Amino acid sequence: MFERINMEKKLIREDSVNLDNISEYTASISKIFKNKDIIIMKGNLGYGKTTLTRHIAKNFDSENIVSSPSFTIINEYDIVFDDEESVLRHIDLYRLESYDDLYSVGLDSSIYEDGISIIEWGDKFIDFFNTPYYILEIESVDDDERLFRLFLLND
Ligand SMILES: Nc1ncnc2c1ncn2[C@@H]1O[C@H](COP(=O)(O)OP(=O)(O)OP(=O)(O)O)[C@@H](O)[C@H]1O
Ligand SMILES: [Mg+2]
Repeated sequence: MFERINMEKKLIREDSVNLDNISEYTASISKIFKNKDIIIMKGNLGYGKTTLTRHIAKNFDSENIVSSPSFTIINEYDIVFDDEESVLRHIDLYRLESYDDLYSVGLDSSIYEDGISIIEWGDKFIDFFNTPYYILEIESVDDDERLFRLFLLND
């Protein structure tokens, strides 16, 4: 419902993920991502966005711990990507209120730099993002299980 008209939304994969198979899932989807990819995570409070980001960072050999970015908008984590040092940006737009706020935190330049950007609540400002980008939709199946749908959005 947030996507722009005429945009192509292609389902890449759909997986049932729990805390037992999440490392396996992460290893598998991480192979899809390339430098400068943008992944917008869409899922209610507590559905596992930060948990997945932490696993993706771990998969890229991050030495840092990806914690919930509750008090900062952009957290950067050093990762090894394609055998090179790179960065994983963990961005949380939950508390931002306007498109102007995105510019004041510098999101307009940072997300198009080298590295990978994972954005919680990016769907609040979907028009801000240039295609292509991924949307990862998370639904709760029950307390211990989530349904992850990875889409690629393009004009
Ligand atoms: N794939 C999963 N399967 C089952 N349970 C999960 C999964 N991922 C996370 N959880 C559980 O859900 C809890 C909340 O996860 P997390 O903090 O990652 O959610 P979040 O979407 O980032 O929340 P918020 O919107 O508040 O930032 C975790 O403590 C964990 O127990
Ligand atoms: Mg979170």
